[in-house]
Amino acid sequence: MSRKEAAGKLWGGRFETATNRLVEDYTASVQADRRLAPQDIRGSMAHARMLGRQGVLRPEDVEAIVEGLRQVEAEVAAGTFVWRDELEDVHMNIEARLTELIGEAGKRLHTGRSRNDQVALDFRLHVDEALAQWQACLAELIDVLVHRAAEHVQTLLPGCTHLQPAQPVSLAQHLLAYAWMFRRDFDRVSDARKRVRISPLGAAALAGTTYPIDPGMVAREVGFPGVFTNSMDAVADRDFVMESVFCASVIMAHLSRLCEELILWANPAFGFVRLPDAFATGSSIMPQKKNPDVAELMRGKTGRVYGDLTALLTLVKGLPLTYNRDLQEDKEPFFDTDRTVSASLRLMAAMMAEMGFVPERMLAMLRRGFLNATELADYLVGKGLAFRDAHHAVGRAVAFAEAQERGLEDLSLEELRGFSLLITEDVFSVLDYHQAVARRAAPGGTGDVPVRGQIADLRAWLRELRASL
Ligand code: ARG
Repeated sequence: MSRKEAAGKLWGGRFETATNRLVEDYTASVQADRRLAPQDIRGSMAHARMLGRQGVLRPEDVEAIVEGLRQVEAEVAAGTFVWRDELEDVHMNIEARLTELIGEAGKRLHTGRSRNDQVALDFRLHVDEALAQWQACLAELIDVLVHRAAEHVQTLLPGCTHLQPAQPVSLAQHLLAYAWMFRRDFDRVSDARKRVRISPLGAAALAGTTYPIDPGMVAREVGFPGVFTNSMDAVADRDFVMESVFCASVIMAHLSRLCEELILWANPAFGFVRLPDAFATGSSIMPQKKNPDVAELMRGKTGRVYGDLTALLTLVKGLPLTYNRDLQEDKEPFFDTDRTVSASLRLMAAMMAEMGFVPERMLAMLRRGFLNATELADYLVGKGLAFRDAHHAVGRAVAFAEAQERGLEDLSLEELRGFSLLITEDVFSVLDYHQAVARRAAPGGTGDVPVRGQIADLRAWLRELRASL
């Protein structure tokens, strides 16, 4: 317990004895936050340049710092950087190495800043890069869904409410419903990024600084459009993490619904999809099995992301202003979410690109479910019958056909007229499933005209997005 040991810390000046070993292990975050090294280095370069421009640092010191940071960056990238737990976190590891490399000038870098605004900047830069990745993955998934939808404008399946067959829809309409969900997720992430892309550097520990700094210049250097307006808010705020993980939670909820459908559709009772071999697994004991494990795991991992969101919300709720060490716990939930949501989106895009749809099975279930019953009732209403009476007549026709294991469209004109004399030869086009779908031509409906309109809209959006990158 020598003075020397305690003084080994960057903050060791006022300490008499060394840190307890357990405390060191408990408080060190470097194994997790070393991931922020690239952002930490970028932020420090911007900070040093700004201090130089403002006359706080001499030009030769700025040059030495930037040069030294480049070398640290290279060591980190090459995996030769030695991370030391006793230096607590990414910030102090990098600063210590910088000083080892360039001497005196390294000790001047931390002028006018604190780890509190430093970590907030690093993390904002990291989160923003992750969100941009999520957006690229979302666009890729939307692209795949639109592509598959375009192949299946004429493929029909039972649209459900209550998981009961309700009305025929096109597979395209079904897939596009998900494309629109992911499109909204994309927009939600764009909106969140507006609040992530704000530089907190210059808030210092909590109260701002006496040095003549220029926070706007730092923001420009790191490519953020916004600058903090209140130093206390700048170091205490973690909304940007909570909001990002909320966006991820909604993405996972959407993925999980799609997973649930794929799992059902892969069951032989539905048989609507054949899982591509590359995306399914077998059973170690039942040779006939082909399991939808990817979809199941993705549904399961949704809970993990909700857990991360809960952890963050709970982390912040009782904290007095401003920085509290609790906030160090904000990173791992985000890293976990980032890993989960990125991998899930990529996998879903790859799996949907190869999903084997089985239109015959979809059509078979349409027939068995009398999904043209509403059409027949509407037809009778069109011929002047009151809706209640039409409903009753069609109900009797369904019971009759069902008893013989036939569809309504399989009954003869004579048989149909047994339920209402208003029925004539033109009924058969009404009972045709494709026509039932095509007739839903009003905006947003499942008819091929509005469906092709949706495909065109999403394609135009994707094109514009690519052009803007
Ligand atoms: N490792 C810390 C974190 O992630 C950095 C900030 C430390 N600040 C402090 N005052 N101890 O939150």
